[in-house]
Amino acid sequence: MKKMVIFSGAGMSAESGINTFRDSKGLWEQYRIEDVATPEAWAKNPELVQRFYNARRKNILEAQPNAAHQLIANLEDNFDVHIITQNIDDLHERAGSSKVIHLHGNIRLAKTSGPNCQYTTEFYPIEGTELDLNKHFCKAGYPLRPHVVWFGEAVPAYTVAQDCIQDADILVVIGTSLQVYPVAGLIHEIPPECAAYYIDPKADQQYLPAQFHKISQTATEGMKTLLSLFDPKV
Ligand SMILES: NC(=O)c1ccc[n+]([C@@H]2O[C@H](COP(=O)([O-])OP(=O)(O)OC[C@H]3O[C@@H](n4cnc5c(N)ncnc54)[C@H](O)[C@@H]3O)[C@@H](O)[C@H]2O)c1
Repeated sequence: MKKMVIFSGAGMSAESGINTFRDSKGLWEQYRIEDVATPEAWAKNPELVQRFYNARRKNILEAQPNAAHQLIANLEDNFDVHIITQNIDDLHERAGSSKVIHLHGNIRLAKTSGPNCQYTTEFYPIEGTELDLNKHFCKAGYPLRPHVVWFGEAVPAYTVAQDCIQDADILVVIGTSLQVYPVAGLIHEIPPECAAYYIDPKADQQYLPAQFHKISQTATEGMKTLLSLFDPKV
């Protein structure tokens, strides 16, 4: 079976009703990123950050995987599919995809807010939607924070993703503005013989290596176009 790597971003979940932030002028659900998605924001106002992610978690739990998530999950019948996602939602898993690397964390999990929290490998499942600063603590006694990589933090899963993409036969980049580094750099790690596709309504405006075929469509329409381009058994 050929190895197909799917590299997804916030646009992947747009049709599930979860907003991207690039499309709302750098705001995420009306918040400035600096106020809710940085270590400085947590240090300054942990209540606001916790409230923001509690609301995102509720939104994600109420959302359903869309047709594009489903089409990707179905690809496992014919390909060795590996998903590398920038998304903190779990919609790929809920659609049935079995191998998912979360570069920026998973909002259904919590981790310590203590020293070295960026690198911890100890995660706590969150029951329901709420993390409470006064009720939920790690084993060492620090309040639990969402398992999300904030701007300015290390991306421990990067090397795992790098290893995964380096021997891809097919790469499908979908629903990402490729503006968040270091993860956007991953697309340059593919081997020269890899067949690469970029699905995004704004694909035409994106500068990409010549190896990439651009499909300027939404996730679902773009996946249907992609499937029509090749015989899944190739
Ligand atoms: N669902 C989530 O988990 C979620 C939501 C918002 C932001 N984020 C975080 O914010 C960061 C943002 O980077 P990013 O590049 O993923 O997102 P981004 O907001 O920078 O870019 C979103 C991209 O999706 C495209 N898009 C919009 N509607 C689409 C659709 N229906 N189908 C396909 N594509 C569509 C846009 O043209 C754009 O290129 C990520 O690192 C992610 O962790 C995550």
